[in-house]
Amino acid sequence: MEYKSEREDKKAYIGIYGCQMNIADAERMEGQLGTLGYTRTEDMTSADLILLNTCCIRETAEDKVYGKIGEIKHLKKNNPELIFGIAGCMAQKEGNHLIARAPHIDFVLGTNKINELPQIVREIEAEHGASIVDVAEMMGIHENIPIKRTGSLSAWVPIMYGCNNFCTYCIVPYVRGREQSRAPKDIVEEVQDAAAKGFKEVTLLGQNVNSYGKDHKEADFAELLRMVDAVPGIERVRYMTSHPKDLSDRVIESVRDGKHIAEHFHIPVQHGSARILKAMNRVYTKEAYRSLVKRIRAAVPHASITTDLIVGFPGESEEDFLELLEFLREIRYDAAYTFLYSKRSGTPAATMEGQVSDEEKHRRLTALMEVQNEISLEKNQALLGKDLEVLVEGASKTDENVWTGRTRTNKIVLWTHGAEAVGDLVQVRITNPQTWVLKGELL
Ligand code: 5AD
Ligand code: SF4
Repeated sequence: MEYKSEREDKKAYIGIYGCQMNIADAERMEGQLGTLGYTRTEDMTSADLILLNTCCIRETAEDKVYGKIGEIKHLKKNNPELIFGIAGCMAQKEGNHLIARAPHIDFVLGTNKINELPQIVREIEAEHGASIVDVAEMMGIHENIPIKRTGSLSAWVPIMYGCNNFCTYCIVPYVRGREQSRAPKDIVEEVQDAAAKGFKEVTLLGQNVNSYGKDHKEADFAELLRMVDAVPGIERVRYMTSHPKDLSDRVIESVRDGKHIAEHFHIPVQHGSARILKAMNRVYTKEAYRSLVKRIRAAVPHASITTDLIVGFPGESEEDFLELLEFLREIRYDAAYTFLYSKRSGTPAATMEGQVSDEEKHRRLTALMEVQNEISLEKNQALLGKDLEVLVEGASKTDENVWTGRTRTNKIVLWTHGAEAVGDLVQVRITNPQTWVLKGELL
């Protein structure tokens, strides 16, 4: 009999849930599985190994994963050699409970244990049967993990891990640990390597990128942006996510002065009621937030500003909600990612009084989206007739003659394909701005 560890045509299916950090982590998982002889397949039924990189930010994210775990039970029954692992935030949160609930899981890999994936898979390949759970806390950052990037245009580059903020609704600090920044040298080398492989865009990732470097003092985020901006071959530098309390004027200046740094500020406000912001432990006041927006707009007038919003936080009254709508009309975001509050056990908000009913949450979400969509459309309409620089991503999903790309401000643009190629920077004249996309003509 030929052992799986010796075969060279092994296939791994990697399911990715949640945020960009999970994509970046999965690229490191795939890179390491590659060294064990696995190549990626999109067909779960033919896989020798299935790895789900999970998210637990909202209950809906967890429900999706539990659904998938159920599906995999049947595959495992037909193929007992199949290796099945759970990684990411749910793995960290649930640990042993996952295996108790679903014994067909072979291993549970915590968010800080990605580097141990090859060792764990090798052990299971050699000796099927026992399950392995590894969710211990992080001890330093592991560098030099092989990366298999998705796509060829835009690279995800984590610059820090964890979060120290403990917003009262959020599970992230419990599953991702405290903030730890990578060394600037390691980040710049990773960006250089991506550029050498033809990537034109990088997105620097962290739960709170503006507190980058506070732990090692080698460079702060404003300096890091300048270093990455200077890497030859990189045409666009993006980053996410910013906490409004930490976004300094120095960062705004880096964006203003940078050559390739995108004029896009994603600054999640979460709510527009002072009372709710306080209950969320967001720390900033509405006044401080307004002043931040004013400084951004004064320094970088064409910048787009986007946000995250949560409706239905415990205790949110109709009055609070109306204040939120008022705040949206005042700030006028280009776009907003809107979420229904989801109770996460272990977080302070889960046990707060005044939990809002699902029906009411949905009603408010719909009303919120109506207001924001109107603003997004108006903001986009102001771009009618403008010529914008677009980084070409390729054919759109629906029509191979319609191509797509993004402006520096992160707006999606659609146009009829001409002679341009993926990765080109082109000028597009906006002729038909809509709520979610800008349609235009290639110049
Ligand atoms: N319920 C709903 N949305 C949440 N977010 C974080 N935690 C929760 C929760 N418990 C949202 C925040 C954050 C985004 C990534 O997810 O808006 O900015
Ligand atoms: Fe969660 Fe707040 Fe940290 Fe963002 S800043 S990850 S919302 S605790």
